[in-house]
Amino acid sequence: MTALRLDAITYVMSRRLLDDVTLEFRAGEVTALSGPSGSGKTTLLSIAGGLIEATSGTASYDDRPMWLGTGDPRPEVAFVLQVYGLVPILSARENVSVALRARGVKPDEADERAEAALARFHIADLGDRQVEELSGGQMQRVACARGLVVGAAVLLADEPTSELDEGNRGLVLAELRKEAERGAVVVVATHDPAVVDACDAHYVLDEGRLTDHVAPVDLQQFARPERRIIAEAAPPHFDPEPRTPEPPEPPEPPEPPVEQRSAPVLEPQPVAPPRHRSDDAAFRRPRSGSPGSNTGSTGDTDASDPA
Ligand SMILES: Nc1ncnc2c1ncn2[C@@H]1O[C@H](COP(=O)(O)OP(=O)(O)OP(=O)(O)O)[C@@H](O)[C@H]1O
Ligand SMILES: [Mg+2]
Repeated sequence: MTALRLDAITYVMSRRLLDDVTLEFRAGEVTALSGPSGSGKTTLLSIAGGLIEATSGTASYDDRPMWLGTGDPRPEVAFVLQVYGLVPILSARENVSVALRARGVKPDEADERAEAALARFHIADLGDRQVEELSGGQMQRVACARGLVVGAAVLLADEPTSELDEGNRGLVLAELRKEAERGAVVVVATHDPAVVDACDAHYVLDEGRLTDHVAPVDLQQFARPERRIIAEAAPPHFDPEPRTPEPPEPPEPPEPPVEQRSAPVLEPQPVAPPRHRSDDAAFRRPRSGSPGSNTGSTGDTDASDPA
């Protein structure tokens, strides 16, 4: 099956940012790439997409090298960049349309397809707005629309849901899933365990090295801690039974002078734990019945079954 392969990739700047990374991103699958901030995810995607040249090792798609010698990616590659890469003074539609025009699509058709791509992310109404007027989450969806509009064979999405609420995260993941279903290689760099859970395979980087993905990393350790609140408004009281009136309370003693009063103590109240990941079931990958197919080695999944 067609795949994007990295073979013994090393990337050295002032220090070694990637160290002997060998992996495979398969067509028809959404693969998660996680790891702490600074672990090398963006660097790895940049090499995988042909934006930068590895110091040693090769990145190839369909047995063709990704590095073309210029820093321009192959035409079959599209990115959703971590910092969006949008042109602030262009409209949302123009930012999407330009990706098509750069591939030779005529302006009218490019604008029409851009409009449809924005609609996929529920922002068709923002088409005329200049990008610099949009919120972070809206910009992120414009960047997603631009990445997906070209129907690329390889789609590299660098934290495409980091600014999004749960509903829009699900929407983006559902759209990425559609790209994989039409046969694309889809890679998603992410810090979000719910995003990882929606993927078919998962690699973890740590300080530029792939962790031993035979032993899956417990992603719950990255989940947000249980929140505690200091005080909450009392719920409205509803009592169906008429009450017998309570005896009047004895009068309160006079308040001490201000300087003698102690500060009120508010006991921390536990709140319900965060909603379980199954709330994101709408965008989950179809289960193949192969346990552990989303974590650990992609080697434990059947190459003939893109799940
Ligand atoms: N041009 C550069 N020169 C030197 N060091 C760099 C350069 N670009 C990135 N780095 C360093 O390489 C390491 C990996 O960076 P990278 O952006 O790939 O991490 P990341 O995993 O994508 O992090 P994040 O989750 O914060 O996006 C970091 O320590 C970063 O400071
Ligand atoms: Mg990054």
